[in-house]
Amino acid sequence: MEIIITQDYETMSSVAASIIAKEIKRKHDLVLGLATGDTPVGAYKELAKLHKEEGLDFSKVTTFNLDEYLGLAPLHKNSYNYFMWENLFKHINVSPHKVFVPQGNTDDPEQFSEWYEEQIRKAGGIDLQVLGIGRDGHIGFNEPGSSFASRTRVKGLYEQTIKDNARFFEQEEDVPRFAITMGIGTIMEAKKILLIASGEGKAEVCKEFIEGPVTSQITASSLQLHSYVIVVLDKEAAAKLGRKEYYNWIRDNKHVVQKKIGR
Ligand code: PGA
Repeated sequence: MEIIITQDYETMSSVAASIIAKEIKRKHDLVLGLATGDTPVGAYKELAKLHKEEGLDFSKVTTFNLDEYLGLAPLHKNSYNYFMWENLFKHINVSPHKVFVPQGNTDDPEQFSEWYEEQIRKAGGIDLQVLGIGRDGHIGFNEPGSSFASRTRVKGLYEQTIKDNARFFEQEEDVPRFAITMGIGTIMEAKKILLIASGEGKAEVCKEFIEGPVTSQITASSLQLHSYVIVVLDKEAAAKLGRKEYYNWIRDNKHVVQKKIGR
């Protein structure tokens, strides 16, 4: 894993956006996995700005979102589909038929999940997957104990996630208890992964998934087994890391070691 520690949320967002933009410029028909939550909002704003001011072209890009609340219709104000259109899609030139978000109000979640996996395969697999991280260590809605072999499926939300996400709803009781989410197995097949995290609330879990043991209790720790992961943190989220100086040294000397680390 390459660990990039930034000064603040704004810098984390612009570093993340420039990594995504670089991949789109490298491959115009990039298959881009996307995440929701507060963390990526700044990076999405920056991507919209790059589109508007520098003509970053999304017309050939295909996107797959990680997850969606089960039971919410795509136009529901709390759905992740709605979130994505408000925060990114309506500000860029992505073509709507190349946008995939799990359908929360499907009648048959199992069949839908298989279909979703098939669409990812048909698109040629995910080139770059953007991830946030939950305080319980989840990526997507892969809550503690999720199998590292899991595929897109319905998952019950963990208590901490329900509490954390209650801020988006009128009351905690309104937070759906289930979601459709890509599995760890699905995420691990992405060619490259970019995880972003911000704020002191994420400091403990960032230490655990980066420097702790690989365990299904912190599903983000599965990323230690992936060959190409970049983690961009602000300094609050990085506060508890034990090897900060080493990560910073690698970042500052990357031009020297670039050939050796293959980035
Ligand atoms: P957040 O959510 O970005 O709102 O903190 C992250 C997540 O739960 O994956």
